[in-house]
Amino acid sequence: MSVTAKVNQPLAEVAADAAAVEQLYAELGALFDSELVGARDGEELKKLRDRWLGRKQGLLTFSNDHWLKSAPRPLKPAVGKLQNELKTRVEQALEEQAARAAQSARSEPRIDLTLPGPERPLGARHPVRIVQEEVESIFRSLGYSVSSGPEIESDYYNFEALNFPSDHPARDAMDTIFITDRMLLRTHTSPNQIRIMERTPPPLRYIVPGKVYRNDAPDASHSPMFHQVEGFAVDEKISFCDLKGTIDYFLKSLFGAAIRTRFRPSFFPFTEPSAEVDISCLFCAQTGCRVCKGSGWIELLGCGMVDPAVFSFVQVDTTQYSGFAFGMGVERLAMLKYGVQDIQQFYHGDVRFLHQFR
Ligand code: PHE
Repeated sequence: MSVTAKVNQPLAEVAADAAAVEQLYAELGALFDSELVGARDGEELKKLRDRWLGRKQGLLTFSNDHWLKSAPRPLKPAVGKLQNELKTRVEQALEEQAARAAQSARSEPRIDLTLPGPERPLGARHPVRIVQEEVESIFRSLGYSVSSGPEIESDYYNFEALNFPSDHPARDAMDTIFITDRMLLRTHTSPNQIRIMERTPPPLRYIVPGKVYRNDAPDASHSPMFHQVEGFAVDEKISFCDLKGTIDYFLKSLFGAAIRTRFRPSFFPFTEPSAEVDISCLFCAQTGCRVCKGSGWIELLGCGMVDPAVFSFVQVDTTQYSGFAFGMGVERLAMLKYGVQDIQQFYHGDVRFLHQFR
């Protein structure tokens, strides 16, 4: 029989002599001790107090009513003493435990659910990425597709098929970073003209953004890695007029309708004729400043009509098709658009710089 059942029996039923009574109270005390360990907060302690000291149903009320009252006269003093001792011990223990619980509740950190949560810093798009995506979206609106190609290229795609003769000084001008004799880090995005024309017949309208590499010492306007966007269109009856109109529209979309554009004759092995395009200086209204070096014009991109020699590498019929191509540096566009003076700023990852472009 458990001790909680025994408290409902008259003493004679559960203990025969003084030693048995002592044993009985010891059992009851042990039960209390084990229950006290599990009572941690005020709520649990109140339940425990009711269970033990409750005026009608408390275990010690039962032991008082059933055991003490029914104790035979010779045992009565001993039972009374045990009953009182246990009752005092229970009362004291409950009080001490309640004080401890109140103390630890005060020192426990409280969670204030009304406080705002910790701020999670949000990332921002990189300015080079922002400008690249703007270029993409302008050309998408003109019906161009966006593609990409490998950064590790062969000599064939980077130079040969673009009509750079093998001993041509233009190869040196590119400051190529070679990996092996035949493999290199692409010096421009133009290899994608070849890659796309190899696998897709005209009509073609593509832009290809991506990283390019040149063995340049880093300074305010040079970096061994930077970004370009290549563009080209191949179709029937494409003329230099289409090239001019496209570039003019693009630059006005990017820099505002108020700018002027200027085409100057230039040379690239893979375009003929070739041109360099300038825009009117954004910073001085063409009165002459440091950015335009007093000229009123800022050089921005290279372009031209696809050289027939290039078409012959990819079997495009030059009696039926013609095309134009252009290429530009994205950092350069971003520097002009945001007034950034040092290209290195784009690569330092300084959040004080980067967060300005959100
Ligand atoms: N690939 C050239 C460069 O990096 C730019 C260019 C592209 C020029 C397409 C003409 C046509 O300098």
